[in-house]
Amino acid sequence: MLILGIETSCDETAAAVVADGRDILSQVVASQVEIHARFGGIVPEIASRQQLLEIVPVVRQALGQAGVAHQQLSAVAVTLGPGLAGSLLVGASMAKALALAWDLPLVGVNHLEAHIYANWLAPAPIPSFPCLALLVSGGHTLLIFMEGHGRYRTLGQTRDDAAGEAFDKVARLLGLGYPGGPAIEKAAEAGQPRYHLPRAWLRGSHDFSFSGLKTATLHLAMQEGLLPPKVGDPRIADLATSFQEAAVEVLAEKTARAALGQRARQVLLAGGVAANKALRQTLGQRCPLPLQAPPPQLCADNGAMVAACAFYLFQSNKAPDPNLDVQPNLRLG
Ligand code: KG4
Ligand code: ZN
Repeated sequence: MLILGIETSCDETAAAVVADGRDILSQVVASQVEIHARFGGIVPEIASRQQLLEIVPVVRQALGQAGVAHQQLSAVAVTLGPGLAGSLLVGASMAKALALAWDLPLVGVNHLEAHIYANWLAPAPIPSFPCLALLVSGGHTLLIFMEGHGRYRTLGQTRDDAAGEAFDKVARLLGLGYPGGPAIEKAAEAGQPRYHLPRAWLRGSHDFSFSGLKTATLHLAMQEGLLPPKVGDPRIADLATSFQEAAVEVLAEKTARAALGQRARQVLLAGGVAANKALRQTLGQRCPLPLQAPPPQLCADNGAMVAACAFYLFQSNKAPDPNLDVQPNLRLG
């Protein structure tokens, strides 16, 4: 079963063709990183206009790379939310038009669910249920117990900033650029974790909090006389390392503890922050259950995860809906 997956929730225009929710026949991602970098963050209006410019070539390229004619497709899948309304509308309108023109079912997908389903893509083994998923992205930090396809229970979530958001804000204040996650990770390679930064354990709860860590990093940078950012000062790299270590330790330790308390068979890592090597390594060391994470390029927003998720929605008879609308604030479960 071939599904065309379209993803336009934020600043990536992406499309992919996936066979049976598993084998990626094509994967095309047009990133707007360079466009938004000069503003230090995503400008929603620019993002949606750029989506409109990219969507047709990206979908055309995804079909071409896969060597698939539209007559061979079984469905068109698209992200409905959460995300930026203007960006989501571009993908949803495109998907609706294609489904109508090609007389195919249209499957609307939750972006958070799609991130988790990046773990079902080959060549990694198919995950076993029940499992625990740590979903860490620019907008979300969720610890989820997943009993089966489409069956989620949220155990914990962030009470303030998402993990990726904290990376982005700290990178910005340290003058490391945008996007912040990869910038902090790169800076941290040259630094030492010599600053102690607070860890919000929120004992007795599976929730997270990153705003205190972000503020403490800001205060330390001010105390050290590093603001406005002293680009190239080795203390910047030390602060980046110390921040990354604190954020990663809390994410890994709280996930490991949650895994102990659940009857899960394995832990899945998902979302943009899941590309972080320190997080993958620390969680791998501390987790009492087998850990699986998508390859880094599948942690970031892409069309293949949307197609993989849609395949299982299809299997579980969640009826395709030609009248679907975007849902910028969509939640999981
Ligand atoms: O999942 P994603 O691509 O988009 C959302 O759904 O939000 O996640 C983007 C987030 C950004 O905050 C970015 O800084 C972060 O993921 N990120 C990372 C890394 N790569 C991306 N954070 C830490 N380390 C990385 N290597
Ligand atoms: Zn995402």
